[in-house]
Amino acid sequence: MRVLKINSYQEMSEWVCKRVIDTIKSCENPVLGLATGSTPKGLYQCLIEAYNRKEISFKNVTTFNLDEYIGLDPKNPSSYNYFMQDRLFNHVDIDPKRVFLPNGMATDIEKECDDFEALIKKHGPIDLQILGVGVNGHIAFNEPGTSFTSRTQRTQLTANTIEVNSRFFENKDEVPTEAITMGIGTIMESKEIILLISGQNKAQAVKHLVEGEATEDCPVTVIQKHPNATVVIDEEAASLLS
Ligand code: F6R
Repeated sequence: MRVLKINSYQEMSEWVCKRVIDTIKSCENPVLGLATGSTPKGLYQCLIEAYNRKEISFKNVTTFNLDEYIGLDPKNPSSYNYFMQDRLFNHVDIDPKRVFLPNGMATDIEKECDDFEALIKKHGPIDLQILGVGVNGHIAFNEPGTSFTSRTQRTQLTANTIEVNSRFFENKDEVPTEAITMGIGTIMESKEIILLISGQNKAQAVKHLVEGEATEDCPVTVIQKHPNATVVIDEEAASLLS
């Protein structure tokens, strides 16, 4: 695991954007793993700008998103599907048939999870997986205590995650309590992982990741075991490192 300290959020976004562009250009049929939330917004903005400059095309790109809330329609502005359309897909030439997110409205959630795994097997492996981390150390919606070998599954969100994510909803009661998440074992099969971490509220998770041991109590620490992972940390997130 490489650790790269970077001065600002903007620099982080530009750096990772270059890496994504390199991946798109160097693979015939690139497969990207994508995250939602505050952290990758800057990356998606940089990618749209690169597309507008005609530096890249998404025509041959396939994407898999990490997670989706159970019970939210893709038209719901708080859904992760809506986020991805709004922040990236609506602005570039990606083929909608190559865009995969778990369907939080599926009538059979367990089947939806199995189908999502099968799709990753069919189109994968994921060439480059972009990750963020939760304040409590979760990756995707794999909350503390999730097995490092887990596959795509239904998961209960912790009180902490519901509280932290309530900023994306009108009020806390609207935050779904369950989600579909790509498994930790699934994520670890990506050829390369870039984990973006920004902000003071992630400093404890960063300390555990960089200076602690890999333990299922802090899911992000599994990244220590990946053969080709880079963790990009801004100054605030790195503030507790010795
Ligand atoms: C979202 C996801 C989550 C977020 C994490 C950090 O698809 O997988 O694990 O990466 O909750 O979210 P932000 O970036 O909003 O702090």
